[in-house]
Amino acid sequence: MKNSFRLYQTHPWLLSFLFVALAAQHVAAQTAPPPLLLGAAWYPEQWPESRWNVDLELMQNANIHVVRVGEFAWSTFEPEEGKYDFDWLERAINLAGQHGIFVVIGTPTAAPPAWLTQKYPETLRVDENGQRAEHGNRQHFNWADPKYREFCRDIAGRMAKRFGHNQYVIGWQIDNEYSQTSADEGTRKQFQDWLKARYGSLGNLNTKWTTVYWSETYSGWSQIPIPKNGGIDSGNPGLLLAWRRFVSETWRSYQKNQIDVIRPNIKPGAFITTNTMGWFKAFDHYTVEQDLDLAAWDDYIPDGHIDPAGNGAAHDLTRGFKEKNFWVMETQPGFVNWAPVNQSIEKDGVRALAWHDIAHGADAVSFWQWRSALNGQEQYHGTLIGADGTPVPLYPEVKQIGEEFARAGSVLANTHVESEVAILHSYESRWAIEWQPQTIEFDPVEELVRYYRPLRELSQSIDIVPPSTSLAKYKLVVAPAMDLLTDAESKNLMDYVTGGGNLVLGPRSVMKDEENSLQTNRQPGPLVPLLGGRVERFYATKKVFPVQGAWGSAEAHIWAELLSVESPDTTVLMRYGKSNGWLDGQPAVITRKVGKGSITYIGMCMDDAGMQHAAKWMIDTAGVQTPLIKVPAGVEASVRYGDKNAVHILVNFSSTPQTITLPAPLDDVLHGGMITTVQLPVYGVAVLNAKR
Ligand code: GAL
Repeated sequence: MKNSFRLYQTHPWLLSFLFVALAAQHVAAQTAPPPLLLGAAWYPEQWPESRWNVDLELMQNANIHVVRVGEFAWSTFEPEEGKYDFDWLERAINLAGQHGIFVVIGTPTAAPPAWLTQKYPETLRVDENGQRAEHGNRQHFNWADPKYREFCRDIAGRMAKRFGHNQYVIGWQIDNEYSQTSADEGTRKQFQDWLKARYGSLGNLNTKWTTVYWSETYSGWSQIPIPKNGGIDSGNPGLLLAWRRFVSETWRSYQKNQIDVIRPNIKPGAFITTNTMGWFKAFDHYTVEQDLDLAAWDDYIPDGHIDPAGNGAAHDLTRGFKEKNFWVMETQPGFVNWAPVNQSIEKDGVRALAWHDIAHGADAVSFWQWRSALNGQEQYHGTLIGADGTPVPLYPEVKQIGEEFARAGSVLANTHVESEVAILHSYESRWAIEWQPQTIEFDPVEELVRYYRPLRELSQSIDIVPPSTSLAKYKLVVAPAMDLLTDAESKNLMDYVTGGGNLVLGPRSVMKDEENSLQTNRQPGPLVPLLGGRVERFYATKKVFPVQGAWGSAEAHIWAELLSVESPDTTVLMRYGKSNGWLDGQPAVITRKVGKGSITYIGMCMDDAGMQHAAKWMIDTAGVQTPLIKVPAGVEASVRYGDKNAVHILVNFSSTPQTITLPAPLDDVLHGGMITTVQLPVYGVAVLNAKR
């Protein structure tokens, strides 16, 4: 590998031709994509066609088996209104296929061409100050505009008809990273119509939003505004929630507009997805993902420092969108260009991260991007090929990932993550807290990850799912900050407990109802009778309060709730020590057994040491299975299960080499042979196959 790399550096063009023979061999064998896919975002329209073959050979040499193309290429597909050119893409796709590389087509709708926005300015989005976007960047379109949707439907439909049955095209990505909305008059009217359909009458809306407050009462639908600044510092909580629901549904219909013309024109088995952005919260992903076949996300580590729990939780969130394996549609080849300091991931870290992706249920890891366009906004971003067209120093590491994916593919085919523990996540709860945080130090995602971190270490697997999903299969369900629950969601949680499940509610649970109004029976709302206790008062704090009890000594910070016990069989697990007077000696954690299940309320943000004890207690109480392989701190262990096998993936994210003794001999998938001890260098990876 080293030699071939050196040769590339000195004779890049010569060597590329040597792969032609190899390519031909591959093509003969390659009729379906391999189970684990390594990929890159490739923009053939940015390069002379004479260069394509060289790029594809370099990709093939790196064991890249999928490229995403077409995204943002609208001005090349349709240089003038009604004048189309898809021939170049057909040639690019077929050439890729001849190199054993499959294709995901991105619809180009995140970047409408200048002729379109100039002739139809209503297709440009308008910000909350009434400023219309201009051409020259991307995401300048208005996602709600009917005219824009006509154009999207036209281009997506034509692409699907042209390429839907191409043997190399395995999937479709709609648009790119949905994010920007519009506050134009047309959208405002649509929002008002949406409200009319949802609430039926203004009387109902006024009651649900308690609009008598500050004389907000509406006597006409046209009076209702789009909230400003995403509602962060203004607006009635009911209005804010309704707007975000409208935004989410409008993204769904924006997407469906394209799905409707793509689906009937593509071959069975080809997937439709979109690429999301981890914890991005401007719309409810559970709403939008419903119509997709596959969840996919763009995994970036802007500061270059990998936090396996933080990144792992984002994977598990994405896996939870469809509750099945997902794709990492974009990831950074070393570094990005948009952080304050675009530090690179360290050597071997990119490989470790790729295996961490697979460990959490990804079936594809695709780098953004193959090569930087010579001009355009992202010249400094990491790539696999430099501006001179030859590999960058990361290339051999990526090639190694590709070789390992090929080696491990058959073992990992049809395997998936199975979790006994779920953490609940809801956009509506996050929004509710974001709009009225009470303390800027409380971040619902950080709080979720605070639970995730120790629970993941102990269980080696967690699903992150919405409160509406079926929970019966979990032994433990943890809801860190479910501030807002609909009645149906509350019922779902209660049914889970009465059915024998173990539910742990974290601080700020069930303060709000479906309309973002306060619950009238205090926290946790409808769950109070089941808990046999409730929250008497909540306190934001800059101080740290001591807490003691069954979990030893811990510290409460940021948020502390005074709990009370109303039922004789509800017990206090932890109490506050001397704190703010109100909380002194009062319950901080309470629990109650309910049949075979239990419900527990943790009324404070706890320090990491306290969380470790709490997590151990939760795992023990719920009887969650202890993992087969015990790993030291800093080594992430995960399992993917097939019908007959269990594949353990270990990644060393600690700063020292680690030795792990296995409980039984296991098959070393990457190196071959049965082993009983694993030596992991820093960023080392082991893939171990066991019978199930
Ligand atoms: C993503 C985007 C890509 C590229 C990348 C750079 O958000 O989808 O097109 O811009 O960021 O990191």
